[in-house]
Amino acid sequence: MRTVLYPGTFDPITYGHIDIVKRACELFDKIIVTIAVNPSKHPLFTLEERLYLIKESLSEFPNITVDSFDGLVVDYAKKAGASGIIRGLRAVSDFEYEFQMALMNRKLAENIATIFLMPHEKYTYLNSSIIRDLAQFGSDIGDFVPKVVQDAMKKKFAK
Ligand code: COA
Repeated sequence: MRTVLYPGTFDPITYGHIDIVKRACELFDKIIVTIAVNPSKHPLFTLEERLYLIKESLSEFPNITVDSFDGLVVDYAKKAGASGIIRGLRAVSDFEYEFQMALMNRKLAENIATIFLMPHEKYTYLNSSIIRDLAQFGSDIGDFVPKVVQDAMKKKFAK
């Protein structure tokens, strides 16, 4: 059984992330979508909110588990019995950071591979910050995130 992790901040999850999950589901038996608790980031959504939004957004996929971790991603991968880490590559600008992280993770854990998947090109310009900006200024984000995320963002910015 091939288990892989898909780690990230997911603040919030977008159709770009979901596109990567869909592709990973076709290749692996089990995907653990896991939120990295990064003390240097100050997310808009709490950890609990992000877990809920991911679970709701991925409910149609049978082989998904949603979780969170702090510490090193390779330590979490070992504990979870995962043999790989999925990362999305949207553009060349993602490459340097991802390459450095993949090599460091391989140095830390030789037998955990990083697998890069490319989302559909219609999502290559998407990231969570852009979605947060659009939502904050009342723009329609329906093309980029599921309804449950759209509603959560409306609520967040109405406060
Ligand atoms: N579609 C849309 N957006 C995407 C995307 C996709 N397919 N893939 C990435 N993004 C966006 C995210 O929305 C996020 O946008 P933002 O910066 O505007 O919020 C951005 O790209 C960064 O992506 P994310 O996947 O959340 O990465 P990250 O840099 O926040 O986190 C971890 C990367 C969690 C894998 C990494 O920090 C980690 O492993 N942390 C644990 C500590 C550790 O082990 N470090 C590695 C040691 S080398």
